Amino acid sequence: MENIVSEKRSLLYPDHVGLIMDGNGRWATLRSLERKEGHYEGIKAAKRVTREAASLGIPYLTFYVFSTENWSRPQKEVDYLMDLLANNLFSEIDFLKKVGAKVLVRGDYSKLNNGVRHALKATIQATASHTKITVVLAINHGGHDEIVRSVNQWLKGRQGDELINEEAIRNHIDLPFIPPVDLIVRSGGEKRLSNFMLWDAAYAELAFYDTLWPDWDGKLFKEACEEYGQRTRQWGGVK
Ligand code: IPE
Ligand code: IPE
Ligand code: MG
Repeated sequence: MENIVSEKRSLLYPDHVGLIMDGNGRWATLRSLERKEGHYEGIKAAKRVTREAASLGIPYLTFYVFSTENWSRPQKEVDYLMDLLANNLFSEIDFLKKVGAKVLVRGDYSKLNNGVRHALKATIQATASHTKITVVLAINHGGHDEIVRSVNQWLKGRQGDELINEEAIRNHIDLPFIPPVDLIVRSGGEKRLSNFMLWDAAYAELAFYDTLWPDWDGKLFKEACEEYGQRTRQWGGVK
């Protein structure tokens, strides 16, 4: 009986959760630490959430790591974030293997420095055979930029005066084989999307939590997924 109940509940979990990991800087400032310490702690929170998502059987997670707008931060902070990726990603291979997580990247790769590109490529390659969960890192990602790049990609194969349509835009965004996001969770209290996955967020459920990102754990992530399970998605229709 218990099995049937848990099986039913798990059916209500989202297939794809997007995480806007906000509040790292405030977490550090509250502790009189430098902002970078908050980013470092944020990695641990992302690992806790990944572990929980895998154990709940959620197949896709997208973490908003660095936005197209984040380049406007002080150079020192941008450099730290890039170094964090370049130096720490590949060392998580054991963790990713244990969890069964395949890593992919969403965003404009071409603007990242060699060190980051190399770390990302190596991590993607080393995790390509993992099948439990797909973890997408949105890096130099912006919803507007993704749509513009999609349209430009489509234009390369345009026939005559053909007009673009929704299906064509969807087919040319980054990682088109990943289903649209079901639930977007934002930590840190702000209630906005900050240019995250705009095309695929069209019908996403949104959830905002005050808890700062470095304080996130598996329990809170599970609560967010369960709360999603209580919602009715209407898709513009009548239920
Ligand atoms: C989010 O935390 C992490 C990134 C944008 C990389 P913030 O750095 O935005 O933290 P707050 O919002 O300033 O507290
Ligand atoms: C969103 O957080 C971007 C990431 C989490 C990577 P920001 O802190 O950059 O967003 P704003 O400035 O509050 O909109
Ligand atoms: Mg912020």
